[in-house]
Amino acid sequence: MLRAPSERDIPAWFARATDVESASLAGDHIPSDIGAGERWLARSRQRFADGRAIQWSIDQAGVSDAIGTITLSFGTTDAKAAALGFVLARAHWGHGMGSEAAREVLRYAFETLALEQVTAEAAARNFASLRILAKLGFKHIESFIDVSDGERCERFALDADIGSSLLTSNATPGC
Ligand SMILES: CC(C)(COP(=O)(O)OP(=O)(O)OC[C@H]1O[C@@H](n2cnc3c(N)ncnc32)[C@H](O)[C@@H]1OP(=O)(O)O)[C@@H](O)C(=O)NCCC(=O)NCCS
Repeated sequence: MLRAPSERDIPAWFARATDVESASLAGDHIPSDIGAGERWLARSRQRFADGRAIQWSIDQAGVSDAIGTITLSFGTTDAKAAALGFVLARAHWGHGMGSEAAREVLRYAFETLALEQVTAEAAARNFASLRILAKLGFKHIESFIDVSDGERCERFALDADIGSSLLTSNATPGC
């Protein structure tokens, strides 16, 4: 289940954000203290208020804390496109939750927001992310080097016509 992030998500967010491998795979900075959680939530809310992003906390039945976040970020140049990003707590990796959350957000992006394209980027060594994007029908656009850390990354895009039909048919390309 996806819902707006709230104060109660801060401890679980901090635990995810300080997982060194997860942060490295996602290309995120590691916060030094829990105070960063307040800033994360304030930024998430401000970006939503400004129309720059929608971020959801991901809940799982029977689990008290949110198991992760998933985000659509909107650029300044193309109002009909957004970038998808997701992070799950390590304890929940490998159970299909990342795929399920991404599928739900893509459905919202194409059916409710009527976006024309969703893009995504992943480190070339982030095999789980690459697999999720391939399963959801994303097409590889280009490889590039992230100038902030020298990481080799891959860029993908999913157009609405393809995304909508795949989501409707529940097809899983690449399987
Ligand atoms: C990326 C992430 C969200 C994936 O979530 P998840 O719930 O574990 O992913 P899923 O279980 O839905 O799917 C992962 C797929 O990758 C595959 N996979 C996982 N590790 C793999 C590996 N090392 N090599 C090849 N395939 C791999 C799984 O088998 C699965 O494919 P399948 O459904 O065909 O079996 C999670 O690993 C995470 O939060 N990682 C750290 C942060 C991060 O990298 N965020 C993304 C930034 S782009």
